[in-house]
Amino acid sequence: MRTNIPWWIRIPVLFFLILGLMEYFIDSGDKPAFIEYPITQFFMLMVLLILIAIELILNSVENVMFQSMTKEAQTRYLESKSKAWEWEWGKNFWKKITGNKPIEKEGEIILDHNYDGIRELDNNLPPWWVWMFYATIIFGVIYLVRFHIFKDYDQDLEYEQEVAAAQLEIEAYKKTAKGLVDASTVELLTDAADISAGKTVFENNCVACHMADGGGGIGPNLADDHWILGGGIKEVFTTISEGGRDGKGMISWKQTLKPVEMAQVASYILQEITGTTPANPKAPEGELWVDPNVPKQEIPEQVTDSTIVVTDSTTVAIN
Ligand code: HEC
Repeated sequence: MRTNIPWWIRIPVLFFLILGLMEYFIDSGDKPAFIEYPITQFFMLMVLLILIAIELILNSVENVMFQSMTKEAQTRYLESKSKAWEWEWGKNFWKKITGNKPIEKEGEIILDHNYDGIRELDNNLPPWWVWMFYATIIFGVIYLVRFHIFKDYDQDLEYEQEVAAAQLEIEAYKKTAKGLVDASTVELLTDAADISAGKTVFENNCVACHMADGGGGIGPNLADDHWILGGGIKEVFTTISEGGRDGKGMISWKQTLKPVEMAQVASYILQEITGTTPANPKAPEGELWVDPNVPKQEIPEQVTDSTIVVTDSTTVAIN
């Protein structure tokens, strides 16, 4: 049986079928095979040419056959060819789901009444609608049993699960996107890999002024707990990124170092240098750093407080 599918559908369908098979079978990592291995482009070009060649050959075979036919056979052949190509399966399917009565049979379902010539057909409910209706009933029963009788889970639990999952995703994302940190989002890095990367940055850029052990030289001592510009991770990061006070010699490093490198070197300083005793420590400069995020210890209230206040006021009064 000869297919009636026209060539301009046949060629692309076969072409993309072969392309799809090729992509499926060739393991090319993230990229499609025809980018990863340019030779496959040549292969696909050959496939295309062969498909076109086959079409041409079929065409000329048909032509030769046609010429050798009798007149009568020729007309029959043309007739069968000119029958428009129809999508039988699709048409049947459409008829089935809409359940329409063909116009010739409408007489069977016309209702009696007649309003000034306007009449009514008693069509069946369209099957697609009926199926969906049954589906909602089945869905409703399953839902009722699952959530109202067996109390599988509720919205609160679902919400908490989603938040927990999102939190994990954020953690994973942060691991891959360390480069996105800035002074407001930077956190103390504790991974050994980050610390050793920070050490390398420190040794390559900072030892000239701060000494390898952080004892200080041109720059201040980084090992003591006194800081000129603040000793929290965010403050140290800002100092490194923006530089110190004008004219002191600490330049802004944000042009030279990537954000993640500044976070690493800041973490390295705070964890490996601060708190150690360098060989030649420079005298502490700045102020004793108290982390503002750690809550201050409550001073226990003393019972004698009020008395002291009274005494005080008396003293003032006497003066
Ligand atoms: C040219 C010398 C020089 C170099 C190189 C240098 N610094 Fe400094 N650094 C200084 C000086 C000087 C100060 C004091 C700035 C001020 O007083 O405002 C300072 C201050 C600092 C502070 C703040 C200290 C405090 O007490 O608040 C940190 C943190 C710091 N530097 C880290 C680094 C890091 C990290 C590098 C390498 C990427 C580096 N420095 C490279 C000279 C230098």
